[in-house]
Amino acid sequence: MNNILAGKKILLGVTGGISAYKICYLVRFFIKAGAEVRIIMTPAAAKFVSPLALSVLSNYKVAINMFDDSDDSKKICVEAGTWHVNYGLWADVFIIAPATANTIAKIVCGISDNFLLSVCLAARCPIVVAPAMDKDMYENKITQNNINTLISRGVKIIPPAEGELASGLCGIGRMAEPEEIYDFIVDYFSKKSDLKGHNILVTAGPTRENIDPVRFISNNSSGKMGVELARAAAERGAKVTLVCGPLSVPVPPDIKIVHAVSASQMFGEIKKNLKEKNLVVMAAAVADFKPAVYSPSKIKKQNGNLLLPLEKTTDILEFLGKNKKKFKLFGFALETENEIANAKKKLKEKNLDMIVLNNPLQKNAGFNTDTNIVTLIDKKKTEKLPLLTKYEVANKIFDRYLELT
Ligand code: CTP
Repeated sequence: MNNILAGKKILLGVTGGISAYKICYLVRFFIKAGAEVRIIMTPAAAKFVSPLALSVLSNYKVAINMFDDSDDSKKICVEAGTWHVNYGLWADVFIIAPATANTIAKIVCGISDNFLLSVCLAARCPIVVAPAMDKDMYENKITQNNINTLISRGVKIIPPAEGELASGLCGIGRMAEPEEIYDFIVDYFSKKSDLKGHNILVTAGPTRENIDPVRFISNNSSGKMGVELARAAAERGAKVTLVCGPLSVPVPPDIKIVHAVSASQMFGEIKKNLKEKNLVVMAAAVADFKPAVYSPSKIKKQNGNLLLPLEKTTDILEFLGKNKKKFKLFGFALETENEIANAKKKLKEKNLDMIVLNNPLQKNAGFNTDTNIVTLIDKKKTEKLPLLTKYEVANKIFDRYLELT
């Protein structure tokens, strides 16, 4: 066990899901690592796991009700009187696990009709949420929108896993295992501010090339890789500008967002935002071609096939490689054959400092997944990474950037 948690004050909020029983293990891990743990349960959670068990494991009485005079847990804030506020001030981090769809929705709306929610609304410490619920509830647009809202407000989400669910269904929704939650928190406290003083521009998402007022050419990019790069850099202390096409994922706070739709708009915005940058990472899936002529009115159906002449867009990465003076430049390469050789060729021809190679045909890699399998190639080193989350890939990329500077 890692002693980075020694002395850390961990507030654990438990809501009413069957995976609440697994929190006993998580509390054990934190206590063994030397952390101080205080636990708040919702009344529903207390039906799934005994507050007594969690009190014994955490060496402290569990808090459930807002107005329970016999509750010893008030001890930590009796001085100030407003104990829901003080719980939030006491903690270094507030983890809500399992977090039900109901609690997530209430947090989003600022509802505070139980003690856990009141603490959440008053908390100044970072909040980490581990959702756990049935597959259909998790996939419901309302829940997805709520989770995205939390992300955009800076709440950290530990995503649920796929597997057997209490409902008998199989699919996504199982709470992340206690070991994963523990590792996430260790990672969180170990994070260095090693990118402080670095000014980084990241691009993300697809571009859209309009054909007429209702149609466009685009691609499958969600923007997830670029957004995770921006998130990781900001968390490590960098000043981050994200130039993005239409994204399908939320952007966390503390990142300057510059929107662009077409490849040429993205090119223009990048040039405007290059000043004082130390690193540019081109993770956007920029269109290589656009319609040669834009039709201002909708193109009508006609007999026979429609031929749509396309013309090349500017290769932004190549332009930056030719014109770079002070900043490092990282590009991405999507290759499906002769991958390493093709990526090395791009690294050289486009004058890059590093290229991140990925093959979208590999399982769990490429577009629209939370994970990726990449190879990092610079002038001296080729490093194949295993299957990692895009956030982990992002951190590896910045580790290599620091080695190169
Ligand atoms: N890129 C760019 N401008 C474009 C097209 C791509 O800056 N007009 C950047 C992407 O952001 C990515 C890199 O180029 O960082 C590689 O894109 P990829 O599609 O793999 O390669 P291409 O160079 O476009 O070549 P090809 O499609 O022939 O493999």
